[in-house]
Amino acid sequence: MEFSIKSGNPEKLRTDCLIVGIFEERKLSDSAKHIDAMSDKAISHVLKSGDMEGKLGSTLVMHQVPNISAARVMLVGLGKIADYNERHLRQAVRATVKALPKGVQTIAFTLTEINIQQSSIATKVAHLVETVIDATYVVNAIKEKKPENHPLEKVVIQVEKTETTQAEQAVNNGSGIAKGMRLAKDLGNLPPNICTPTYLGDQAKKLAKDYGFKVEVLDKSQIEKLGMGSFLGVAQGSLEPPKLIVLQHNKGKKSQKPVVLVGKGITFDTGGISLKPGADMDEMKYDMCGAASVLGTFKAIGELNLPLNVVAIIPTCDNMPSGNALKPGDVLTSMAGLTIEVLNTDAEGRLILCDALTYAERFEPSAVVDIATLTGACVIALGHHPSGLFSNNDALAKELLEAGEKSHDRAWHMPLWEEYQSQLDSNFADIANIGGRAGGSITAACFLSRFAKKYEWAHLDIAGTAWKSGKEKGGTGRPVPLLTTFLMHRASQAK
Ligand code: BES
Ligand code: MN
Ligand code: ZN
Repeated sequence: MEFSIKSGNPEKLRTDCLIVGIFEERKLSDSAKHIDAMSDKAISHVLKSGDMEGKLGSTLVMHQVPNISAARVMLVGLGKIADYNERHLRQAVRATVKALPKGVQTIAFTLTEINIQQSSIATKVAHLVETVIDATYVVNAIKEKKPENHPLEKVVIQVEKTETTQAEQAVNNGSGIAKGMRLAKDLGNLPPNICTPTYLGDQAKKLAKDYGFKVEVLDKSQIEKLGMGSFLGVAQGSLEPPKLIVLQHNKGKKSQKPVVLVGKGITFDTGGISLKPGADMDEMKYDMCGAASVLGTFKAIGELNLPLNVVAIIPTCDNMPSGNALKPGDVLTSMAGLTIEVLNTDAEGRLILCDALTYAERFEPSAVVDIATLTGACVIALGHHPSGLFSNNDALAKELLEAGEKSHDRAWHMPLWEEYQSQLDSNFADIANIGGRAGGSITAACFLSRFAKKYEWAHLDIAGTAWKSGKEKGGTGRPVPLLTTFLMHRASQAK
């Protein structure tokens, strides 16, 4: 898909579909007014008929509008003028894309003309671009007939002449994030017999080649040498060999301490011997979405050529029951030396992440953020809108929360209080891997915090946000926008 910025009169745009906004009070946006005046009140007639009231996300397609070069004009409802904000813009853009008639290959938006308090043209254009790419995503399903790409080919964004340069830069930012999201969705959606730890390692190597990252994919014997007994405990039940993926994007000053992203890469989570119930177990192919979001974020920062040092660490394996699998009661020795009593083999994410967090120490990080589909309890606590955010540093938490707000990929700050830690006490090891039902997402974060004492650290529990269930089942590409925006902010501060 190709995006271009244009300025000039909207009636002269040669496009399959020109998109103009209508507010709920049946008030016309500037471009709508302009088209209305040029076309002998064609829009006013439609509004009078009552067919379009301007409700947020409602659409109506007009054909053969007089004196207008576009083949169609689509009216899109923007809701109440007083309420209009970035979220409404994104929702309106999504609605237009979903409502495009089949024959439309080129479209032109005028929606970024509408003023939003505290939002720049760059922000509006970036959100528009990201939303269009996100809404036209087609799952690469494995069918006899390969799914066709979305028919939309060209998207014009109409802006004021003075805004052109900023808008063009914003197209880059928006599409960089969207490309990262697409990779995260693609990896999440792949079946678990294809998207194995080895496959993820190959994807990391491909990214490294495309964007000049340094890459290492450590195999089982190298992971053994590192002493990652906890990670290997999870991996031992599967015939699929584990991998530890390390990517480095070194585009900051040499002396600059890197941000480290750690992604949970369980390519399938059966629960192990503490076997999960059968219903919807297929969705546990998404248990590598933390890893996918880290790879997606690397794609985005590669696209943006972000001037920052960033490291990715991805422990990846399957969690399977077998004659060789981990058992409840087993005690593992982590790379940090802490011993772990495994009371439930289904609490495996923290077991692979803790060794990756210890490995992160060698990079002397400025901050470490881990991303994991860690707990069902997080979904119970927060539902599917925000990711859960935990941190041992309030300033870092604030930075991530703000990046989430800015990118419309929000997180919610959860407590990580000392009081919860004793739920992890064990009679037989330094720490147990579960802390009971109460506050399950918090005790999971507490477990990780024991291995993240040497640096500023945050944990994003994305169990509720990384994919959708039901009819729309599929990866969401989250939290690539949050992470990329966080890194962009860090890069701008490093200047
Ligand atoms: N991958 C799951 C978490 C999960 C469950 C994500 C459902 C999304 C939907 C994780 O490995 C897990 O199984 N966690 C257990 C922890 C429990 C045994 C303490 C859980 O949440 O039930
Ligand atoms: Mn599990
Ligand atoms: Zn899991």
